[in-house]
Amino acid sequence: MFESVSVGGKGARKGTKNTPQVVVIGVFQDKKLGSAGESLDRDAGGVIGAALKRPECTGDSGRVVEAFPTEKSKAAGRILVVGLGKRESFKVGSLRNVAAAVARRLAVTKDERVSVELSDVLGSVKANVELAGRAFGEGLGLIAWNYDRFKGKGSGEQAKRTNLVATSSDSLFERGMGLGVQLAESTNIARDVSQTPPNVATPSYIADQAKKLAKSTGMSCRVFEGKALETERFTGLINVGKASENKPCLIRLEYTPSKGRKGVKPMVLVGKTMTYDTGGLSLKINNGMVGMKRDKDGGCAVLGAMHAIASYIKPSRPVVALLAVAENSISDEAYRPDDVIEFRNGVTVEVTNTDAEGRLVLADALCWACEKENPEAIIDLATLTGGVVTALGSTFAGLWCDNDDLRAKLEQAMNTSGERWWRLPHDGEYRDMMKSPIADIVNSNPNRKAHPIQGAAFLSYFVKDSIPWAHIDIAGVHAVEGDTGPFCKGPTGWGVRLLADLMAGE
Ligand code: BES
Ligand code: ZN
Ligand code: ZN
Repeated sequence: MFESVSVGGKGARKGTKNTPQVVVIGVFQDKKLGSAGESLDRDAGGVIGAALKRPECTGDSGRVVEAFPTEKSKAAGRILVVGLGKRESFKVGSLRNVAAAVARRLAVTKDERVSVELSDVLGSVKANVELAGRAFGEGLGLIAWNYDRFKGKGSGEQAKRTNLVATSSDSLFERGMGLGVQLAESTNIARDVSQTPPNVATPSYIADQAKKLAKSTGMSCRVFEGKALETERFTGLINVGKASENKPCLIRLEYTPSKGRKGVKPMVLVGKTMTYDTGGLSLKINNGMVGMKRDKDGGCAVLGAMHAIASYIKPSRPVVALLAVAENSISDEAYRPDDVIEFRNGVTVEVTNTDAEGRLVLADALCWACEKENPEAIIDLATLTGGVVTALGSTFAGLWCDNDDLRAKLEQAMNTSGERWWRLPHDGEYRDMMKSPIADIVNSNPNRKAHPIQGAAFLSYFVKDSIPWAHIDIAGVHAVEGDTGPFCKGPTGWGVRLLADLMAGE
């Protein structure tokens, strides 16, 4: 939508060519102007008061009406009065969508310098102004995302996009906006990789992206591939990835704090990164395969979060990212239903369905994390089951986490990031559903009862009881089907901001 979005600079200074072209003010449904709004209205010759009286000015959240100051007035050329909804139930997080509505208008008007003056109205409901700025910045940065890498000669000339500069006379709001735009940038990194088609975004492509990220942010990066997968007994990756020419790998990224305290255990972030999921020999049918380039979105979110962590969150705790990367394809070399495979922790698995592949590659990363990383906690993100989409739709991700401390931290991160999850249970009865007559466990029980929970139950066989662990199934939230708030049809980068917020507290 924009070529770029930046915050601050000289945008707000009056009397220079950087004077904002647009001022954004807010009103609740009661349409009471704040003190800054009133003074702006006086400067602008009363055009705001007139705009508030127009029937389309409802104050509904995201409703934008425009006012044009008289020629002689000192005010900006255009004033956008944006609705903030009901005063009594205002939540700072709604500003992501409000910012997106403002941005949609600015993309049409082509104005480049906007000053956002919401703090007087926000103050009247005692909102946290910095968090408000952050949510607004996230909205601007998320809606700015473009992906025209594969637009060719057939699309004609692309419309020129503007470089948006946002400022605020409230330094706290502006600081918040700055962080919001940064978090959106990290999210957009995840969305770029997610959107990249599977003939380009192969496992080695993902490894290259991780190496580039490591280089630019000072992280270390190690890629296990070929023989190293066998040496380390990464059974899931070897088997799931066997049928594809694009060979699997396990990517390990490590962020080390500069002023690290000795003996602090790392947080380990694990991402399911299937560059394509055909279902394997249990082939996906009836168009179920379309969109499965996005089966890498757990890993994409972890990559985006590592960008945030290493470049500006900079927690004092080390963070290790493990991306289990493979393409689930078909050939005469494919792994098959009925195969039995043994993992590095000694657990044997009867493959009953090659389309339940994500849990197999995650099992490798979880075993490795428990054995080799001495983790403070492990969090895995995965587009694991269609069942979680049936259960929770696109509103909440599914979360399995029986550790109260880790869950409390994730709850706080959910509240600031707006990336919401709903808890689902672990239980011995679900673990029993995974028992196999020939091996220890099956990778999928043919009975679809408690489908997303079966995935979590399977994974639990690969995590040591003593290690706090959260599994997050993002199959319902990793993408949207049409324009939704600050997102256009496509990937949302769900998880980047949740994980960044989680680590901001460490
Ligand atoms: N990648 C899919 C899950 C998925 C579904 C992701 C919809 C995004 C949107 C996963 O590998 C899969 O195929 N799961 C199967 C598991 C079943 C065979 C046990 C499913 O959910 O049907
Ligand atoms: Zn699958
Ligand atoms: Zn999958």
